[in-house]
Amino acid sequence: MTEINAVTTLTRDGDVAIITLNSPPVNALSANVRNGLFEGFKAAGASDAKAIVLICEGRTFIAGADISEFGAPGKPSASLFDVQEMMENSPKPVIAAIHGTALGGGLEVALCAHYRVAVPSARLGLPEVALGLLPGAGGTQRLPRVVGVETALEMMTSGRHVPAPEAFKLGLVDELAEEGKLKEAALAFANKCVAENRPLVKISENNTKLEAAKGHPEIFANFRKANARKFRGFDAPEANIKCIEAAVNSATFEEGLKAERTLFGGLMSGAQSAAQRYYFFAERQANKIPGIADDTPVRPINKVGIIGAGTMGGGIAMNFANVGIEVVIVEQQQAPLDKGLATIRSNYERSRTAKPEETAKRIGLITGSLSMEEAFKDVDLVIEAVFERMDVKKDIFAKLDAICKPGAILATNTSGLNIDEIASVTKRPQDVIGLHFFSPANVMKLLEIVRADHTADDVIQTSMKLAKKIGKIAALVGVCPGFVGNRILGQRQREAQKLVMEGAMPWDVDRVLYDFGFPMGPFAMSDLAGLDIGWVKEKSHGETIRDVLCEADRRGQKTGAGYYDYDENRVAKPSPFTEKVIHDFIVKSGANPRKISDEEILERCIFPMINEGVKILEEGKAIRASDVDVVWVNGYGWPVYRGGPMFYGDLVGGPAVVLKKMQEFEAKMGDQFKPAPLLEKLVAEGKTFADLKG
Ligand code: 3HC
Repeated sequence: MTEINAVTTLTRDGDVAIITLNSPPVNALSANVRNGLFEGFKAAGASDAKAIVLICEGRTFIAGADISEFGAPGKPSASLFDVQEMMENSPKPVIAAIHGTALGGGLEVALCAHYRVAVPSARLGLPEVALGLLPGAGGTQRLPRVVGVETALEMMTSGRHVPAPEAFKLGLVDELAEEGKLKEAALAFANKCVAENRPLVKISENNTKLEAAKGHPEIFANFRKANARKFRGFDAPEANIKCIEAAVNSATFEEGLKAERTLFGGLMSGAQSAAQRYYFFAERQANKIPGIADDTPVRPINKVGIIGAGTMGGGIAMNFANVGIEVVIVEQQQAPLDKGLATIRSNYERSRTAKPEETAKRIGLITGSLSMEEAFKDVDLVIEAVFERMDVKKDIFAKLDAICKPGAILATNTSGLNIDEIASVTKRPQDVIGLHFFSPANVMKLLEIVRADHTADDVIQTSMKLAKKIGKIAALVGVCPGFVGNRILGQRQREAQKLVMEGAMPWDVDRVLYDFGFPMGPFAMSDLAGLDIGWVKEKSHGETIRDVLCEADRRGQKTGAGYYDYDENRVAKPSPFTEKVIHDFIVKSGANPRKISDEEILERCIFPMINEGVKILEEGKAIRASDVDVVWVNGYGWPVYRGGPMFYGDLVGGPAVVLKKMQEFEAKMGDQFKPAPLLEKLVAEGKTFADLKG
């Protein structure tokens, strides 16, 4: 065995040289890895081996360029292009042996091998788009040459990780190896190449699939049109599409590469990719809890109890059944229980994400009961998902304390009640935690995990790991009204309402926030959810705009009208009726409606959110600024290409700019805009929001 460098070795098996990479955690293409590959291929090329296999140790093949190196001053090292050239031009067959994931630069390396062998569990993809980028090492030019233009468009703009069996059908993988026998299969394949004198396939030289798309610009036009909504606001999808267009329309591979390089450079130096790369690490950072080691033992969770078969309880149940965990749902009456279980069944049948037998298995894992005593004796975790009333929750937790086995985790899905108070009725507050799911709970990615005063470390650790298992993105937050997400939302909602009372129309506010990148504005959202949530007809006397709208049976999309008017296809139009209602309210209040600029709308909605984020951090209710961003990107539709409210705060100039704005608003409009003391401290110390790292 020859040690090429700290992460690369060269060994020999008969006629085959084996280059092995071992750079945990994911064999990302750091300077060390690139050097190792370059020197490894050089040494293998100079040896008398007749073929070369590239294989990785650890959990995965190369998962891409090393994202943490982007933007950092480069160490002198071999470039990715040097490595690729060495592989593609090798006079001996090069075989990439793939397990885990071959992603981004990792797949781009594999595409410079002459052949690829993969185990069925492997996944291949070019996910750069999720980082606001495009594959910048020839991937945009090679992928369509292998899989064709349409598939390349889909793969590159979605960033999808394609399972190896599908990749095999697409021609991305040449042979599927038996699981666990990758090395043997790759060696056998290499020996076959030698014995049969197989050609050294250079993807860059095969234009057949591109020819098929030449003279058909409608392929691109149609793709853009079909995905316009999905790509709205993002720069990277369009740049990825342009690269594939360049592959089709360029006279040579090199010309296409040049276009790729230019477009890659543009994205890499732009604000969107900076935000999306930041966010990649933010999500992973959120899993790290200071003071709780990653190897803290977790409590086994094999059976979950849920109280409440409503939309929330049912959605939560599906998360666990999806990963094979048994669930029992308790309701007080048979009818709502039956209704809840039927809704779960129909959700499963409609979603068709799993094969029918798998769907049946999941449905079978969820049972119902009318008795907590019966159902919860042996559960490892109970999640209470009933309506938001402290007395009801306390009553439930006192019962759970009596029923559940020692060590069971007792969780509440409250979206803002004081969990310490809830825990106080039990004799085991260390086992009580908040698990705040977002609706619809089987779809929404965010989980706010709420640590109460006495919550034990292993309960937090178990909840964090469980969140990952059920596919959620978790952020640990502290007990305060509304926790992190809703507390910040409160600021935006308040300003949106006030802006309307000052002269902006709901559709003005919505348009500004939509253009900023939110999926919809607050008024469109109210119409979708129903204006009558929490509205009581008997008590309504036209005291608010909402009262008047509901009294006129404008209760949102479901009644064909709310803040907006809706046509039969539920397309919203500004409503003269709403406009008059608002105008009357303003006049009644003695104010004069004024013209409000888009800039003011945005600043009034966004800056108080950032200020509230700072207050939250100051009170220790979130660990770090990036956790606040994780909550808002995942749970509230903050556009990921703007990183999150705290990242955005830095982007627009940092604490000094936010402070100045808040002071300006405070002087004009009072206390609600009072700057957080920590904001002033950050300015005094010349720090950024990103410095709030926990
Ligand atoms: N660069 C640097 N670090 C990376 C990385 C990368 N490409 N990919 C993962 N990591 C790190 C993570 O930050 C994490 O670090 P931590 O333990 O300190 O938090 C660790 O590796 C493990 O990652 P995950 O927690 O995400 O592990 P999973 O097993 O859940 O997922 C994965 C593994 C599917 C590989 C996932 O990490 C992933 O999607 N990685 C990014 C893949 C990617 O986007 N590749 C393209 C990069 S850009 C590129 O290649 C440009 C090129 O075209 C020139």
